[in-house]
Amino acid sequence: MFTILLICGGLVGFYLLLCLTVLQLPKCKSTAKLHGKTVVVTGANSGIGKATALDLARRGARVILACRDESKALAAVTDIQRETGNKEVVYMHLDLASLKSVRSFAENFLRKESRLDILINNAGLVMAGKTEDGFGMIFGVNHLGHFLLTILLLERLKECGPSRVVTVSSMTYSWGKIDFNCINTHKDLCLGKSGLYLVTLYSHSKLCNNLFIHELAKRLKGTNVTCYSLHPGIIKTDIVRHSTIWWRLLMAPIVLLFFTDVDSGAQTSLHCALQEGLEPLSGRYFSSCAVQNVPAKARDDAVAKKLWEVSESLVGLA
Ligand SMILES: NC(=O)c1ccc[n+]([C@@H]2O[C@H](COP(=O)([O-])OP(=O)(O)OC[C@H]3O[C@@H](n4cnc5c(N)ncnc54)[C@H](OP(=O)(O)O)[C@@H]3O)[C@@H](O)[C@H]2O)c1
Ligand SMILES: *[C@@H]1O[C@H](CO)[C@@H](O)[C@H](O)[C@H]1NC(C)=O
Repeated sequence: MFTILLICGGLVGFYLLLCLTVLQLPKCKSTAKLHGKTVVVTGANSGIGKATALDLARRGARVILACRDESKALAAVTDIQRETGNKEVVYMHLDLASLKSVRSFAENFLRKESRLDILINNAGLVMAGKTEDGFGMIFGVNHLGHFLLTILLLERLKECGPSRVVTVSSMTYSWGKIDFNCINTHKDLCLGKSGLYLVTLYSHSKLCNNLFIHELAKRLKGTNVTCYSLHPGIIKTDIVRHSTIWWRLLMAPIVLLFFTDVDSGAQTSLHCALQEGLEPLSGRYFSSCAVQNVPAKARDDAVAKKLWEVSESLVGLA
């Protein structure tokens, strides 16, 4: 009996220790105000994106929530306006699973908005299926859609410099690899059917995010636009909502106990978007509000350049 109590006590103590240490994420220290600045956040209706948009709205920015689901997006606009008192929070439709939608978002945005100071490529998913253009869903949304979006908005970012592009990647990039053959033959990052297949695709897509930012930084040399990729932490969001019921049941207690809240999850995005003096670190990858060293495959010049060129041709830019 005593032993059981001791073990339980030990576990609770260990958990509390975890809560106070590894489950704590540092806060973005920037006190920047953003009155007169315009920010776009993709996938801002929920999770990390919504928490990021909320903080930016609180700092006075005009915040565009670029989302695919109108009713969810309008609910988020209402929440954020109510919580911050900032009326300059608006929804514009963007479905990253459709290149046509990305193009019409960009046209619409460039016609209506005179500025773009910060672009936050936050949307992401883990989901089977194909995009409207026949790309694997994860590849299409997490990488290609954001690739096209960023390029279409780049001139406006340059005009408004100093400006920034921030792409929310994930630490799972470290399991990723880029298979150009598979991209050529199947418009996807890999093939398979196992339970881990989607996680594998996701990891590959997040490596694409890092390589995209690596190459973008080079192409932006000499402009006043800088760019960053990041891991937000392991965050309590509904990102597993498209998974099977078994996977979700298995994950639920783990998520509840060991994942961090969304406000903490927004901090590294905010750090990359706002922190003064980051410009010399353009192209780098961040986690816990700090720059990180990445393995060679996540900063491989040749692969990053090739991925850029292949992506250009896939989205019809080349
Ligand atoms: N949660 C974590 O632990 C974690 C860890 C590492 C990285 N991340 C990354 O963090 C980012 C945010 O994820 P989250 O955890 O906050 O998940 P989330 O709550 O599911 O948010 C994802 C957002 O992306 C949007 N989205 C999905 N497909 C889209 C499309 N085709 N067009 C436009 N928007 C689309 C979703 O819109 P709907 O609501 O309409 O689906 C939602 O607003 C993702 O890039 C994710 O990969 C998260
Ligand atoms: C970058 O910004 C600085 C200071 O605002 C300005 O002097 C310079 O002309 C800009 N450079 C470019 C390439 O726009």
